[in-house]
Amino acid sequence: MKTVLITGAAQGIGRATAERFLASGHALVATDMSAKLLEELKSVAPDRVATLAQDIKADPAPDAAVDLALKTFGRLDVLVNNAGVGEPRPIHESDDSDIDRFLDINVRAQIRFCRAALAAMTSGAAIVNIASIFGFRGSAGAGVYAVSKAAMIGLTRQLAADHGPAGIRVNAVAPGLIRTPLTADRIDNDAAFRRQMVDTTPFPRIGTPQDIAAAVCFLASEDAGFISGHTLVVDGGWLVANGRRDASGAP
Ligand SMILES: NC(=O)c1ccc[n+]([C@@H]2O[C@H](COP(=O)([O-])OP(=O)(O)OC[C@H]3O[C@@H](n4cnc5c(N)ncnc54)[C@H](O)[C@@H]3O)[C@@H](O)[C@H]2O)c1
Repeated sequence: MKTVLITGAAQGIGRATAERFLASGHALVATDMSAKLLEELKSVAPDRVATLAQDIKADPAPDAAVDLALKTFGRLDVLVNNAGVGEPRPIHESDDSDIDRFLDINVRAQIRFCRAALAAMTSGAAIVNIASIFGFRGSAGAGVYAVSKAAMIGLTRQLAADHGPAGIRVNAVAPGLIRTPLTADRIDNDAAFRRQMVDTTPFPRIGTPQDIAAAVCFLASEDAGFISGHTLVVDGGWLVANGRRDASGAP
């Protein structure tokens, strides 16, 4: 049984990932801003879930989460750095509070959670960061969100280089469009968003939180025992198809 720490575990991708680790018999430290939703998650396996309502950008948050893992389960084997925010504006329309919001939550807090987790981890442990396809390419309007997700890919490479010698692997998953509370409204009601994200994904469906949970659990497992510094794209082919589903305009 491993001990897994997941941020943003109350809903969406974090929740599906938490449920998949629990189904495999692992113990979980689940953190999120929503205490109510965390209680729902705890009811799935009360003996194997410890919860912590916290804002990941608060300075004490990473140490508090890691301490809870050590006090409750005696070890920390996996960190899934998942909590994050979206809905960016183009950089020329972003004010300082937009910039701070993305950098504080999507970058600074992620780095600080990795640092705290690594201090408690030993050989065989693994970190999985949640990046995004927008971390790989320029995309009109993706703003500081895209910058923050490119930073997660860089963080993953850097930590893999620094901590590989200690037997600790660090990888990332870059989701494409996944239906979660973060995206559901735009998927259902924003025609321009659907054209950009849904109509241009070759595989003919929208991604699910379970698609990402499967990739995270694989990267955290011994099946990925020689994979480190990698960002696994899980997007139904959106990134490689370069925004096209049909053959019009093909060379
Ligand atoms: N849904 C997608 O299409 C998609 C695509 C690419 C990347 N991602 C990334 O996946 C991750 C999860 O996204 P999701 O779609 O499940 O989002 P979501 O909004 O459905 O869930 C995010 C969870 O994180 C929590 N959270 C947010 N800010 C927090 C904070 N400051 N402190 C503590 N908890 C906080 C929220 O309460 C929520 O439970 C994010 O990093 C997001 O950028 C999502």
